[in-house]
Amino acid sequence: MSTAAPSRGVAPGGPGAAPGGQECDVLVLGAGIAGMTAALDAARTGSVVLATKTDLGDGSTRYAQGGIAVAAGAGDVDAHVADTLAAGAGLCDGAAVRAVVAAGPAALRALAARGVAFDRDGGGNPALCLEAAHSRPRVVHAGGDRTGAAVSAALAAAVRRSAVAVHEDAFCADLLVEDGRVVGADLLLRSASGADVPHRVRARAVVLATGGAGQLFTRTTNPAVATGDGLAAAWRAGALLADLEMYQFHPTAAAVGEPFLVSEAVRGEGAVLLDAAGHRFMPALHPRAELAPRDVVARATGRAVAAHGGRPALLDATGLRARTGRSFAQRFPGIAAMCAAAGVDPDREPVPVTPAAHYLMGGVRTDASGRTSVPGLWAAGEVACTGVHGANRLASNSLLEALVTGARVAADVAAVAAGAADAPPAFGADEVVDVQGTATARASHVARRDLRAALWEHAGLFRDAAGLEVAAKLLTPDETPLDLADLPGVDRRAREDANLVLVARLLVTAAALRTESLGAHHREDHPETPGAPRRRTLRRTA
Ligand code: SIN
Repeated sequence: MSTAAPSRGVAPGGPGAAPGGQECDVLVLGAGIAGMTAALDAARTGSVVLATKTDLGDGSTRYAQGGIAVAAGAGDVDAHVADTLAAGAGLCDGAAVRAVVAAGPAALRALAARGVAFDRDGGGNPALCLEAAHSRPRVVHAGGDRTGAAVSAALAAAVRRSAVAVHEDAFCADLLVEDGRVVGADLLLRSASGADVPHRVRARAVVLATGGAGQLFTRTTNPAVATGDGLAAAWRAGALLADLEMYQFHPTAAAVGEPFLVSEAVRGEGAVLLDAAGHRFMPALHPRAELAPRDVVARATGRAVAAHGGRPALLDATGLRARTGRSFAQRFPGIAAMCAAAGVDPDREPVPVTPAAHYLMGGVRTDASGRTSVPGLWAAGEVACTGVHGANRLASNSLLEALVTGARVAADVAAVAAGAADAPPAFGADEVVDVQGTATARASHVARRDLRAALWEHAGLFRDAAGLEVAAKLLTPDETPLDLADLPGVDRRAREDANLVLVARLLVTAAALRTESLGAHHREDHPETPGAPRRRTLRRTA
């Protein structure tokens, strides 16, 4: 649905609104689990507009396979917290972790009430799966390995039934900032003829839930929409961004055609990793072997691929049927279908895999309620950095955090509307670094393919000062590029390209600043791990 005209449930225009504009209480940008949860909850107390770049439910949520990590009963909260902190390599915010983990079971019940049918075991209880770095099975799933699709579909249906006004195919060109406060956003809506129509939405509160930026890298499990638009818009609006060097690589993206995720749950069910020569390499590297923390397995897999001249590693799940009594397709129908399309039968042969960019642990700095450093702006889900994921996110904690924080944002926005103070959080423990950044969107001077290749090569699994310098040079234009606002008929792709360059520059800056190895950030020239790592937050100075 593309609605260039004002949508239901909000005041069209109104005092000060631009022609073709809208006013509402809450504008949500993004339609994954965080955005749709925030929109549905916020609609209980006010008018809500939700704008999404493609269709309702598109984004990384839809592609999530493994599931949602939730403490398996009150007795498991401490262990789930401990596992999250251990995986996060010392960079997690302990209070934020506990708050999210403790809220998990109730948030999951609320999600189920919105129509997600989670898989059940023989006794009718939620079926729990084991994933890497979890000390026990606690990952709930739906449709076998189609958890994200089930969550997206249920939430999208709930949004369509609700009073939330939806703009699909709506690109956020920029956040609207007045007197240091975010007061809305400038969108581009698609008209019936396919042309972009500017559309300004004014809102008391804006919620960024635009997801990550996997398109920064040549190989990614992310969908095409993951171009860092929300991160770039937040930076231009003056928001602090934190931990941008912490990009998680998934160890097992299928290396047959376009990369697709082969869930960690496959290893949770006993699959093992082999190098191209058929040698199982993980047991010698970590006591948990294939179920070691994700950063450890991703680097080991990357090294195995490099050691064999780029030939993919192999994920061997051929023992699954004998172990579980179920075929691969019965347990993992979605992955089995994608493998079949690529001509691979996981019951009979190993799946060729390599690591791929998967999840940004850093993002727009927020507190546990999703408040950013700019009044009027909240953020939730992958675009945000609450500190829960630290330097290496625990498997299946992303949907959990997005679900809990999406609801928290809506509650905080409602509290502010009811008169609570909306002062930005202090983030006192962060080390803040000033960065000269672009205040406006500039046209990209580098081809997207080259940008992705440079980040894959120099700012990916393995980094060093020389490589980061090469990437920084490529990303820094010789001359000031044209402002997008000055270019007639600039299209969405060009805006995405500009956003990718901006986010890439910030990521490379953050990676160069961290001269130590921590979780997903691995410096070949600085292998040492700090005793007490600090979160590093970037602040735009111009
Ligand atoms: C997976 O299913 O392996 C991905 C889960 C996650 O990223 O947490």
